[in-house]
Amino acid sequence: MRTGAVSWDVDARHSLFHGRRKGRPLRQGQQALIENRLPDLLMPPPPETVGTVDLSGVFDPPVRAVWLEIGFGGGEHLAWQAEHNPDVGIIGCEPFVNGVASLLRHIAHGGLRNVRIHPDDARPLIEALPSGGLERVFLLHPDPWPKRRHHGRRLVQRGWLDRMWEVLVPGGLLRLATDDVGYLRWMLARLTAHPGFRWTGTQLTDLTDRRADWPETRYETKARRQGRSPAYLEFRRH
Ligand SMILES: C[S@@+](CC[C@H](N)C(=O)[O-])C[C@H]1O[C@@H](n2cnc3c(N)ncnc32)[C@H](O)[C@@H]1O
Repeated sequence: MRTGAVSWDVDARHSLFHGRRKGRPLRQGQQALIENRLPDLLMPPPPETVGTVDLSGVFDPPVRAVWLEIGFGGGEHLAWQAEHNPDVGIIGCEPFVNGVASLLRHIAHGGLRNVRIHPDDARPLIEALPSGGLERVFLLHPDPWPKRRHHGRRLVQRGWLDRMWEVLVPGGLLRLATDDVGYLRWMLARLTAHPGFRWTGTQLTDLTDRRADWPETRYETKARRQGRSPAYLEFRRH
């Protein structure tokens, strides 16, 4: 299935991420969460060269399935899913340290035990996941990189979808959201052309209406306030 797999040598890891890693300085409480809580919740780092992350011992107590959220932002959606699906382990990837601190606060408030964090670019981790290791993947409001010369930075690419096909179990779900019309067209074109994914919807409102088990993210709230309407995409891996 794979056509455009990226080779994850160490240099590539550091050059591929183009977003922000830091925002305003962390407050004392946030810094304390990063120092005291994060170490216990870290995902094992992806192998530097070719290799596979063993998911079997990552969650304690063991979970029935593993989900992944890429670019969780402030972590509201991830924390909601973890709270409502205690039998599932959720791995969150986010290189923006202020977002990681925000998720740690949600985890502490909710007493959540089923979350692990990869505080970095998701792609090296995804490359190292075992085939069929995930039941769901969430990519909500990824950076749209609207300029044509930056389209190569978009996470959704044919090679990325091929990799999603590999790491998802048969019947697994890929959920995406965007409020950027250009990126929506881009996503739909690649997803509908992919032989390994099928849209779960049947009518237009399945694209425009958020499902009950799909809480609003911080970015989405802001987009709505500014008059932009998000689209919700759910595709099943078959
Ligand atoms: C527009 S924000 C959306 C955040 C969140 N999903 C929401 O809806 O509120 C995009 C997020 O993706 C993260 N991101 C960008 N590239 C990433 C990558 N390669 N791996 C993991 N996260 C990434 C950014 O740091 C940022 O927090």
